[in-house]
Amino acid sequence: MKQNILTGIKCTGTPHIGNYLGMFRPAIDRANSTDVPSFFFIANYHALNQVKCVKELRQSIKEVACTWLACGLDPKKSAFYMQSDVPEVFELATIFTNVTAKGLMNRAHAYKAAVQSNTEAGRDADEDVNMGLYNYPILMAADIILFDTEFVPVGQDQKQHVEIAADIAKSFNAVFGQTLVVPKELIRKEVAIIPGLDGRKMSKSYNNTIPLFCDEAELLKCIKRITTDSSAPDAPKDPNHLIFQLFKHFSSPSLEEVASRSGDGVLDTRIGWGEAKQKLFEAINTAIKPMRERYNYLMANYSEVEKILTDGAVRARKVAQETLVRVRKAIGV
Ligand code: TRP
Repeated sequence: MKQNILTGIKCTGTPHIGNYLGMFRPAIDRANSTDVPSFFFIANYHALNQVKCVKELRQSIKEVACTWLACGLDPKKSAFYMQSDVPEVFELATIFTNVTAKGLMNRAHAYKAAVQSNTEAGRDADEDVNMGLYNYPILMAADIILFDTEFVPVGQDQKQHVEIAADIAKSFNAVFGQTLVVPKELIRKEVAIIPGLDGRKMSKSYNNTIPLFCDEAELLKCIKRITTDSSAPDAPKDPNHLIFQLFKHFSSPSLEEVASRSGDGVLDTRIGWGEAKQKLFEAINTAIKPMRERYNYLMANYSEVEKILTDGAVRARKVAQETLVRVRKAIGV
């Protein structure tokens, strides 16, 4: 069987280095190393449960679309599309609501977290929880299953969502007979969790991100914000500190190797934090510079991107319609 891979990203805010290392880069590497066409998309209807500002949503859609292409997605090989341009997704999501246990949605992390924070604050458990948030995993299951997806490259935070999609495919098959492919998440261990500026997971909600394609001055400013201690420049540093960790993702030799100037092959981590930050800036900037140029070009010539997305949706819909014919037949519609 062919090994379909598919992944998407929600367009809320500006893509950051955690998204790049955890999702864009591994997904595109994987797509470029196989002959089977992959599916990549922008989950704009998933963003709607959070973003209610037209300008903000448009800007984020544009940034995410340009990021995919700047990171090396080959739109000739893979179908690259906007979720809202493939209406078959929404039909399948409606069908799935009928084979999805409500209890399964109650256990989804994002919904549970919202309920917990409401309860802790003494509010009604479901305050400000819309059905878009509650049904999020069902829509995501439809995104995935519609394309007979076998593997879904994602960051660790999306693991449960892919597991739920697998549960939904299995429930459907149990009720209506073997019809759907059961997907599996693909998580690269070494990039499962990328630390942010304060050492916690890099995330928009912690305000600790490094935007992927900000200009050089802002990149340097962000890196200078990384939390360090006041140990002397020649004191050994913790090689697990996020400066050392982030450095590895962008450069070999590692920062330990760069810092070990004795030449006797013994690794030592005696480097001043200021110098370490400068080296990290150089490593990231060197790796990202050509992509940033491409990104800036695409942002300024967005009609080229729109054409690519339109073409991608046509190709994606062909596959989607075939699956829906199968599904409708299975359910008797
Ligand atoms: N939930 C993902 C995110 O937060 C986006 C997404 C929507 C997705 N549908 C998907 C990811 C299907 C992988 C497969 O970015």
